[in-house]
Amino acid sequence: MNKVLTINGGQPLKGTVAVRGAKNLVPKAMVAALLGDSPSVLRNVPEIKDVDVVTGLLNIHGVTVDKDSVTGDLTLNPAAAKSASSKEIDAYAGDSRIPILFCGPLMHTIGEAFIPDLGGCRIGDRPIDYHLNVLREFGAVVDKAPNGITISARNGLHGAKLHLPFPSVGATEQVLLTAVKAHGVTELKNAAMEPEIMDLISVLQKMGAIINVRSERTLVIEGVTQLRGYDHTALPDRNEGASWASAALATGGDILVQGADQKDLSAFLNTYRKLGGEFDVVGDGIRFYHPGGELNPLVVETDVHPGFMTDWQQPLVVALTQAQGVSIVHETVYENRFGFTDALVRMGATIQLHRECLGSNPCRFGQRDFLHSAVITGRAPLHGADFVIPDLRGGFSHVIAALAAEGTSNASGIELINRGYEHFLDKLQGLGADVELRDAAL
Ligand code: EPZ
Repeated sequence: MNKVLTINGGQPLKGTVAVRGAKNLVPKAMVAALLGDSPSVLRNVPEIKDVDVVTGLLNIHGVTVDKDSVTGDLTLNPAAAKSASSKEIDAYAGDSRIPILFCGPLMHTIGEAFIPDLGGCRIGDRPIDYHLNVLREFGAVVDKAPNGITISARNGLHGAKLHLPFPSVGATEQVLLTAVKAHGVTELKNAAMEPEIMDLISVLQKMGAIINVRSERTLVIEGVTQLRGYDHTALPDRNEGASWASAALATGGDILVQGADQKDLSAFLNTYRKLGGEFDVVGDGIRFYHPGGELNPLVVETDVHPGFMTDWQQPLVVALTQAQGVSIVHETVYENRFGFTDALVRMGATIQLHRECLGSNPCRFGQRDFLHSAVITGRAPLHGADFVIPDLRGGFSHVIAALAAEGTSNASGIELINRGYEHFLDKLQGLGADVELRDAAL
């Protein structure tokens, strides 16, 4: 039965939330366990759907995943790793993009991999050309299949000299998970350097990998023949932390985010302060609050790390609709990540999308038909409306807009938010949100 979340707005969100392991690291560390010749332990694991999807994928490949009923820690044992039928893997098609990262580990472990057509948030075309190109450079044979791709490496995998066209997080992870056991040395230029990438490098180093992080976005990986299991505590989810921070500002509230780490949120905190938000870094996290008075309009440009993350802009846009004046957001990472603004406009926001690059950051989308710049005019009082959750971060922004609005909203597709926000509804209610989940009328 589909569920609808009824939201009665006008209440500031106040209280404490705890964020645990990063959605954009934990599933990758789980896949890395495939490379070890002994069990791994992963700690600070959030209860989110992406973890369930990867657990299922690992299980059908013979990897056992045992969850501690108290701590939620995972013990992953790859001893019985085996190939899975494309039919079994297909059952997970459309749920997530993580399956593409099984390629390297499966080729090292069993010599082949089948990857279904990928899912993930609809925020652009989300091609995998960088992934397939680097796998071929390692010596893999990539064949397009009707419902996915088959990849094999009968003669093993060898190191390669690689240069990514764009510092892609996924493609960098693909290289790391393949190069660590390839014969010889791999050099990767223009690598992604996000904190989640650095945490994955820590995981692999614990397993016995040799990974040199050089300046100028260069990684040099010296392949080894054997890797062992790891014991690792995942870094906190900075994207969830930034989402709750924007929720505090948009609703005029005050939220302590336990687990938030200042150094991984540095660019966000600067923008938050310029917008007019206040934050206090405390012992176990960061307190985010609206100090009263007007919010300031801003020009924000998303970028790869250490810039302002693309995953932070959606909830922040809601706060920008409440700033007095004209703000601009130039999205330079994804070509189509403003679809969520339609619902905000229906709630009373004034947001116009443009295909021009409205900023100084170099961008791949200028002079093409992508509406990747947004002009937001505030302050716009918001009123309730009904909406369908489009993707993870856009969905979060819709919910906080409904909480900031006067009146009642009804959100369907709320389960999408559970992909990346742990215990989302409990957290909302714990912050005083007047929300109720009910069965959708037939
Ligand atoms: C990861 O996605 C994150 N997802 C995204 O978070 C995040 O927004 C993104 O990195 C950027 O930081 C996970 O880690 C599960 P990319 P990923 O490869 O790896 C283009 C969220 O809400 N590209 O860095 O898929 C691509 O189209 C999600 O938590 C190619 O052209 O992102 C995009 O324009 C959303 N070809 C750009 O690179 C490729 O083969 C960045 O993508 C791969 C990517």
